[in-house]
Amino acid sequence: MLAGKYFVIGVTGGIAAYRALDLVSGLVKAGAEVHVIMTAGAQQFVKPLAFEAISGHRVHFDTFETPPGWRYPHLELARRADMALIVPATANILAKLACGLADDLLTTAVLAMVCPVLICPAMNVYMYRNRAVQDNLSRLRRIGFKVVEPAVGRQACGDEGPGRLADVAVILEQIRMMFEPKKDLLPSTVLVTAGGTREPIDPVRYISNRSSGKMGYALAETAANRGAEVYLVSAPTRLAVPAGVHIINVETARQMYRAVMELYPRVDVVIKAAAVADYRPRVAAEQKIKKNDDDLVLELEKNPDILMELGKQKKHQLLVGFAAETEDLIKHAQAKINKKNLDMLVANDVTRPGAGFGSDTNVVNILYPDGTVEPLPLMDKLTLSEVIWDKVQQLKAGKKIDAAD
Ligand code: PMT
Repeated sequence: MLAGKYFVIGVTGGIAAYRALDLVSGLVKAGAEVHVIMTAGAQQFVKPLAFEAISGHRVHFDTFETPPGWRYPHLELARRADMALIVPATANILAKLACGLADDLLTTAVLAMVCPVLICPAMNVYMYRNRAVQDNLSRLRRIGFKVVEPAVGRQACGDEGPGRLADVAVILEQIRMMFEPKKDLLPSTVLVTAGGTREPIDPVRYISNRSSGKMGYALAETAANRGAEVYLVSAPTRLAVPAGVHIINVETARQMYRAVMELYPRVDVVIKAAAVADYRPRVAAEQKIKKNDDDLVLELEKNPDILMELGKQKKHQLLVGFAAETEDLIKHAQAKINKKNLDMLVANDVTRPGAGFGSDTNVVNILYPDGTVEPLPLMDKLTLSEVIWDKVQQLKAGKKIDAAD
């Protein structure tokens, strides 16, 4: 699949620069043509000669040095590339790319690229967790860059946590998936819910929660890419509907309940990533409630528990819930998996940095009814969605699901 493909690998100045050699070697062995751009910092860690020996091509580092037959090195590299990678990507290159700077050959070439660009960050854990770095990563994801999350573990500096360059095998797998996405969810029909429901108080006010919809939309997008027919029942969000996904927009928990129940008989898998309001105002005022000198008391009544009802009516479907907790994550999540008759539950402690509401990343534990708990590292919501669909596929393979039920 990679044979004949043209890769541009940007190597920036971090201790993981030497591991880019293995990546170049893996791509060359797979038959790809690899051209390396090294920043000045990268050359402090690894000699260009090492990359030249493995790639078989001269390393590029100078915006103004023009190889024979080329007019503009940055444009030539950008035009030829089927894919570009930044391995390792330092905090500095993330900031430059997020701002659209073009002050060296690598940044200038990336700005001119129309091919996919895969960024593999690697840096000290505290630098990685720094708000500025995370904001830059969020922006890069939003504007179309793909990110391979760093691995968690002991770092060269002695600190522990996320920040190590992802394994080369993981990066190669990600590259393959981008060229040839799996279609392993064909011909499943899946239902995903997303966003936070809104429960009206009056025509201008409502009760809601902090859900942005990113987790549910990522699940819908990845399922559609993998060949599933996808129904996305969405509470209000600011997100674009992923290509090829059927969208059903709802506002309240009761509207979500009706939409989900209507679709339920014809779907194979349900994933309930939405944050559904447990309570709604007993009465939604018809006119805007006027302020006066007294306190205002709102009476709340219970909303239907959609997931619980799905669990009761479950026949052939595979049912996956989410649990958003702020304490005793596993204990509370375990109670939900049994009570709601789920096949799998994705539990997030929404107080953890990088987890839960609004962020582009999440940190979850996956729970099964037999009591197994599988902790997963911090990863972006798209990558996590791929993992969740992999687990769903494993469950389907291990469990006989008879569509005629
Ligand atoms: O949208 P993001 O900003 O990306 O944030 C992602 C997320 C934090 C919303 C997501 O990861 C998540 O945890 N979703 C579930 C939130 C939630 O409502 O959790 P819960 O523990 O209150 O509910 C448990 C499960 O029951 C959920 O699958 C929920 O959809 C479902 N439920 C809850 C109440 C209700 N009345 N009906 C339901 O179906």
